[in-house]
Amino acid sequence: MRRLIVVLMVGFMAGSARAEPLPPGPGRAETVRVCTGCHEAEVLVERSQKQAAWSDVVQAMVEKGAEASTTEQAAIIAYLQKALPPQGSGGR
Ligand code: HEC
Repeated sequence: MRRLIVVLMVGFMAGSARAEPLPPGPGRAETVRVCTGCHEAEVLVERSQKQAAWSDVVQAMVEKGAEASTTEQAAIIAYLQKALPPQGSGGR
């Protein structure tokens, strides 16, 4: 259900929720190019609801074979932290 809401919101803004459910912003181009090679961008959106440890995630993906320069990795991490922050509002 949470995922449906995210997809609908982003789809409304972007026009297409299918291939790239990622909001616009600096670093998005690198993220799409590097991070959608092996799986859909939706994987990233789902992760945003759990944890914002994006630098760990990007590091793990580079170890799996994601091809990004150090500069690109920094851009991707900065983008993801801004674009896909944790969804929990801190309530109990
Ligand atoms: C070389 C292929 C490849 C590329 C490129 C890649 N990934 Fe992945 N990713 C995987 C595989 C395989 C899995 C699932 C297996 C696993 O989690 O070990 C996965 C799973 C994930 C997950 C879900 C698992 C979790 O820990 O929650 C996230 C989030 C993720 N990738 C983010 C990214 C990001 C961000 C990028 C761009 C920096 C990226 N991926 C690029 C191969 C890749």
